[in-house]
Amino acid sequence: MPTIPRDASFDGSVSLLREGYDFIRNRCERLGSDVFRVRLLMQDTICMTGEDAARLFYDDRRLQRAHAAPRMLQKTLFGQGGVQGLDGAAHRQRKGLFLALLDEQGVAEMVRLGNAEWSAAIDDWQNRERIVLLQEMQLLLTRAACRWAAVPLAPDEAQQRCEQLAAMIDGAGGVAARHWQARRARKAAEDWAAGLIQQVRDGTLNVAADQPLAVVARHAELNGRPMELKIAAVELLNLLRPIVAVSRFVVYAVEELLTHPQWRKRLQESDALLEPFAQEVRRLYAFFPFVAARVKQDFEWNGYRFTQGTRVLLDLYGTNRDPRSWHEPQRFDPERFAHWNGSAFNFITQGGGDPASGHRCPGERLAIELLKASLCMLTRHMEYAVPAQDLRIDPSRMPAQPESQLVISDVRRVAQ
Ligand code: HEM
Repeated sequence: MPTIPRDASFDGSVSLLREGYDFIRNRCERLGSDVFRVRLLMQDTICMTGEDAARLFYDDRRLQRAHAAPRMLQKTLFGQGGVQGLDGAAHRQRKGLFLALLDEQGVAEMVRLGNAEWSAAIDDWQNRERIVLLQEMQLLLTRAACRWAAVPLAPDEAQQRCEQLAAMIDGAGGVAARHWQARRARKAAEDWAAGLIQQVRDGTLNVAADQPLAVVARHAELNGRPMELKIAAVELLNLLRPIVAVSRFVVYAVEELLTHPQWRKRLQESDALLEPFAQEVRRLYAFFPFVAARVKQDFEWNGYRFTQGTRVLLDLYGTNRDPRSWHEPQRFDPERFAHWNGSAFNFITQGGGDPASGHRCPGERLAIELLKASLCMLTRHMEYAVPAQDLRIDPSRMPAQPESQLVISDVRRVAQ
């Protein structure tokens, strides 16, 4: 039986930090293989890229999530005990919570609240010289997400919660100061979320039963009992934090509008083009580079042996840019979505497969709709300038962002 090609380095962790998003793709190209072994974070790891690999990765008879996520991610991005690390019936039960809250009605309500915050922000930005868009979007979406979830925010609290939610995302792939800041932010945010859930449970905070905060507080586990307080807090943050993360897509959309100004006019005139533009932004800017699982039991795939317990990483970023699935994959071309085959495994910014039965993101439609609504705001409801700044994106920084976090100026509301 052939053996999986191995990366020659003793340990790839330093190269991963140096090469960032390109780490898996670089080695796949060098080794001429969609799969390779490497020692990463002190463990023998199999890395994979491409549509076929994604299909394998989301086969839950072969791969599982328990103990898969690196500890540094659990301590920052995900938290411990959340839906990301569950398998089988326990996962389906927990996932039901997210799917119910993020249904068509939930998405529409969140977009409505997002638009209201957007509109208020335009009024505010008109009076300011310089807007750091990433930060402003995070604040705007923190306010809207909390309102959507029925999470109360004191008038002076939004900035603090925004910084905590944003730090968990920003520190996910960070080391040193960025990592420790994310850990502190998670601890503070979990305490805050647990306090809110406790108040709902003991009746001191009155929230309608169908509101996300109440639904999380009362969601039953397989044993019929509510989630442990700490875990319910993790899940509440699993709703708020990723809504704030959509800010990154908005920033990238503004960058693409800057590079392709003809699209501004096209988006002004056509509702039908909003979705392909949003999709192309999401395809090119998958800001989580990979997802992790473990081999459930030994199996063979394409002649290679996968041994029980081995950690497997699926390349999200590289799969979205695989030339076998995407013609001229590095080119920004929203129109390519007119011909996309709709595969659940070749466009995996938010995971692959079926969100109901597997780990694919339950917030994908919400992310798309928030991005489309933001594109409407940017192209139809306001004008702005983009002053000279450093827009370079360091590919080794995870999550990536333009150095300047995208500054806009001269904001003016456009009357409709
Ligand atoms: C900003 C855009 C977003 C990106 C790039 C993103 C990306 C991802 C990725 C890569 C996964 C992991 C898939 C896997 O493990 O196979 C995931 C899972 C998840 N996402 Fe998102 N997501 C986004 C927005 C959202 C939103 C808006 C929500 C909810 C409000 C959300 C909630 C979740 C949850 C709860 C999971 C865990 C699902 C599970 O383990 O079954 N995400 N997301």
